[in-house]
Amino acid sequence: MPETVASSAWVDLPDSSCIKPLQWVGGLDGYIEMIDQTKLPNTLVYIDCRDPETVFAAIQRLSVRGAPAIGIAAAMGLVLGVRDFSGSDPAAFVARVDEVAEYLATSRPTAINLFWSLDRMKRCAASLSRESSPSVGDMKSGLLREAIAIRDEDARSCRAIGQFGASLIPEDGAVITHCNAGSLATAEYGTALAPMYAAHDAGKKFTVYVDETRPLLQGARLTAWELTRAGIDTVLICDNTAAHLFKQDRVQLVITGADRIAANGDAANKIGTYGLAVLAKAHNIPFHVAAPSSTFDFETLCGDDIPIEERHPDEIRRGFGTLTAPEDVACYCPAFDVTPASLIDGLITEQGIIAPVTSERIRQVLRF
Ligand code: MRU
Repeated sequence: MPETVASSAWVDLPDSSCIKPLQWVGGLDGYIEMIDQTKLPNTLVYIDCRDPETVFAAIQRLSVRGAPAIGIAAAMGLVLGVRDFSGSDPAAFVARVDEVAEYLATSRPTAINLFWSLDRMKRCAASLSRESSPSVGDMKSGLLREAIAIRDEDARSCRAIGQFGASLIPEDGAVITHCNAGSLATAEYGTALAPMYAAHDAGKKFTVYVDETRPLLQGARLTAWELTRAGIDTVLICDNTAAHLFKQDRVQLVITGADRIAANGDAANKIGTYGLAVLAKAHNIPFHVAAPSSTFDFETLCGDDIPIEERHPDEIRRGFGTLTAPEDVACYCPAFDVTPASLIDGLITEQGIIAPVTSERIRQVLRF
């Protein structure tokens, strides 16, 4: 797989809050250039994806991860999978689009943005095929435009989430986050981190406590990297430190992202989020989830029905290649858990903050 290594992850990117984890380069014969997030924070490596298999593998091994970023990668990956279609029959082209979408949809099960963006691409292909005398060439270009639109809309949603959420950030106080729901997890700017970037840009002073996020350390490797680059006061903690911090009154707010939010507001996010929400409730600390409307799944009525990905046991016992447990010990490694709506004080979306978190309020604010 072609890789480009930039000199150092600490110096090579433009403005602090504007890391773009993946981009389409060139025209229809172009490719996806993405940061290999498995190599951060030590090295900034870019991977070029020129076929859907490379995109599939990148999603599975978390080179690209975070719900919105996975959706963008899949939409662009679909373009890679259909651009060499050699026929001229629009119906056969739509069938090929469906086939590639079905393949990419099996890369990871929990983040709804993956399925949302592939469905949108399939609908786009079907609608282009119904135009008068459609040409397969025009349909291919239309799909590339749609994939880029998905990326650009996500970038705008993240900025709006930042604007809506910034006022929640406590002046001279502290907020805690789990996993990485920052620029790296989206088109740019992030969801949970967006209010922090916006508050920081507005001159607010605050501290962000970052959970390491076992077992793959998205908090330590990615969130701490992003926030420190942005000049935000950042303190990395082990996942088991939050209760102690809360008891000491050192945190006033929790914000996390989400991989999927059910119709009733139950939210799936990185394993450990539910525990953090329970702790926040016990200490009377507001708990917010930040996510664009593409992360809401109205067909899933409650969190119990959200499929939870299980990862390989070696992610626990042999993290980053070092054996830290008996080689053959059994491990249980769910990648996500579900926080019930009753523990969530507000959902920060690009359409506004949804509070209280009820099905009715969600539908009202998102106009669904
Ligand atoms: O396994 P990951 O790294 O893809 O998990 C990511 C998360 O849990 C994020 O918090 C979530 O996708 C929101 S990203 C804006």
